[in-house]
Amino acid sequence: MSEQEMTAKKRIFSGIQPTGVFTLGNYIGAVRNWGALQDAYESIYCIVDLHAITVMQEPAKLRANTMRAYALMLACGIDPKKSVAFIQSHNPNHAELSWVLSCSTMFGELNRMTQFKDKSARHADNINAGLFTYPVLMAADILAYNADLVPIGADQKQHLELARNIAVRFNQRFGDTFTVPEPYMPKTGARLMSLQDPTKKMSKSDENVNACVFILDDKDTILRKFRRAVTDSESEVCYREGKDGINNLMTIYGCVTGKTMDEITAEFAGKGYGDFKTAVGEAVADHLAPVRSEFERLSADKAYLNECIAIGSEQAYRMTRKILSKVYRRVGFTDRK
Ligand code: TRP
Repeated sequence: MSEQEMTAKKRIFSGIQPTGVFTLGNYIGAVRNWGALQDAYESIYCIVDLHAITVMQEPAKLRANTMRAYALMLACGIDPKKSVAFIQSHNPNHAELSWVLSCSTMFGELNRMTQFKDKSARHADNINAGLFTYPVLMAADILAYNADLVPIGADQKQHLELARNIAVRFNQRFGDTFTVPEPYMPKTGARLMSLQDPTKKMSKSDENVNACVFILDDKDTILRKFRRAVTDSESEVCYREGKDGINNLMTIYGCVTGKTMDEITAEFAGKGYGDFKTAVGEAVADHLAPVRSEFERLSADKAYLNECIAIGSEQAYRMTRKILSKVYRRVGFTDRK
């Protein structure tokens, strides 16, 4: 029996890019939920630095951002004793498997990826082959662990669908090898919108500094960003079509306080938008305060972080080596003596 069959728990895999500080959107939509899944699932979480270099990175910054993202991941509640938490480039099996899978992926499939089209429009001076094959590497991340479930945001659905197609195609051609992964959309995984243009997703690359809240922003900054949030010309705090700004603020407030839309509406009946925005800012700042202090504590303890990283990559390597050997046998590579 394989290691995985002995543990009845389903296996979950997800990854996050080490570009800059996580946003409130990354936190609420993704990383916060990862922590909540650790007990129910065998969880594997990864900082995807290999993916990050598909767009131009300054080496020193990438290195610092990767360490920071790892510390942030732990600060957000990923416990390295419960989950396998590691850095993608430390496990060479991802890149190796990616090559094999790229030979089971069609050019036409990759050419249909909407994220590739978006990113190549945004980085017209650097449309490199890695940007194009990025989804194959993502498939390798997932399939290398035979993950059952993959927590992802809506923007990654097409990539996961491709990973499933690659798994099915490989299995049909070479015999059952990979688990076909399912997307996992957490119930509480709301999609947060820009505070300055609530019809757009909250994005760390937004040029307007007030559009996006970062999880390491200090309280004053958070309050200021919420006070400047774009709303509408009415005055009623209620969730309704057309009130994108207020809807977004209510969603955020609900996510950090656990209150329902009705409760929020009742709480702010008769009060103005000003009071509401301040309340949202306060609630977000209070919610993020422990994450920030835990991040600071961890960042000061490099020895501990390095130890966690080393253990995580060793675990990840061992989990994937067996699957990769099987893949190599299946495709007809000779044994390495
Ligand atoms: N592509 C994902 C993103 O940009 C990150 C990612 C890489 C990922 N590999 C993954 C997510 C595997 C889930 C599973 O958000």
